[in-house]
Amino acid sequence: MDEIYIPPGGPPQSPPPSREILTTLGEPYIRSLLEAHYEELGQSSIASMFPPDLKEAANRSADFFIQLLGGQPYFSQKYGPPRMRARHMPFQITDEARQVWLGCFGRALDKMEFPAQFRPEFERFLTDFSAWMVNRKSG
Ligand code: HEM
Repeated sequence: MDEIYIPPGGPPQSPPPSREILTTLGEPYIRSLLEAHYEELGQSSIASMFPPDLKEAANRSADFFIQLLGGQPYFSQKYGPPRMRARHMPFQITDEARQVWLGCFGRALDKMEFPAQFRPEFERFLTDFSAWMVNRKSG
């Protein structure tokens, strides 16, 4: 039951979303977007996976996304190499949990009126990268 699952697709192959997203929207927007995502997670069926301080967790995630989008390498500076799959290993991430997670992110993008022109590449990244975070078999 607690056996580690390795997604057959392997690590994500898609490039990071373009830097233009960050230069157009700015860091405070990205921080608010991740806050909205964590607010959604806190009200979701997978809320118990997340720490009580959702604001702090949202900021750690924002540090990662700002770095991913070609901004300041906040995440690596504060926490070391991203190694995201390894960092997620303590949590039981099934594909069902991933779908809930993606739904929360989608609602955060709606709420923040994420520009339509950037949405496909951003969602492509979320879809592909989150598939690689799955580390337990469903059911
Ligand atoms: C695009 C996919 C994803 C990205 C970029 C991402 C990013 C992150 C980052 C940056 C952290 C903080 C790591 C740390 O400071 O140690 C984190 C933590 C975490 N993630 Fe993810 N994650 C993704 C997918 C998922 C999925 C699909 C789930 C579960 C369904 C998940 C659950 C968690 C949990 C439980 C934590 C620990 C608590 C927290 O700090 O929020 N993540 N994630």
